[in-house]
Amino acid sequence: KKILIMNGPNLNLLGVREKSIYGDQSFEGYFETLKAKYESLDLYYFQSNTEGILIDKLHEVGFDFDGVVLNAGAYTHTSVALADAIAAINTPVVEVHISNVHQRETFRHHSYLSKNCKGVILGFGLDSYRLAIESLI
Ligand code: DQA
Repeated sequence: KKILIMNGPNLNLLGVREKSIYGDQSFEGYFETLKAKYESLDLYYFQSNTEGILIDKLHEVGFDFDGVVLNAGAYTHTSVALADAIAAINTPVVEVHISNVHQRETFRHHSYLSKNCKGVILGFGLDSYRLAIESLI
């Protein structure tokens, strides 16, 4: 199975950024752990800080891959365009968040993406990504 993990804006700074919320591990390091755990899967990782590039990537994989694990960062709360891209493709998308967004500012409580996703996993730290993979396999 081919699964893409896609991270949006500022998630390239995991391990550096607001450690009390997002932890002290880099995603690159965590991705190595995931690849070792899921040797039988074709796991890919992609990160961009740019909305259009994330949309282009969804179009690229969205008719071929078996699943996408998407942490769209702040675009979750702002992007109708990303929501439309998720609706447009065939590949199921699981929305993930590292933090429990419902314990945070009210502007983080709404997601434009959830309606078009297979499901949502949030609040389990980096383990949210593993749980999302489990849900796809
Ligand atoms: C996040 C939550 C978002 O509200 C925030 O903008 C992020 C990360 C999370 O993984 O907890 O960038 O998606």
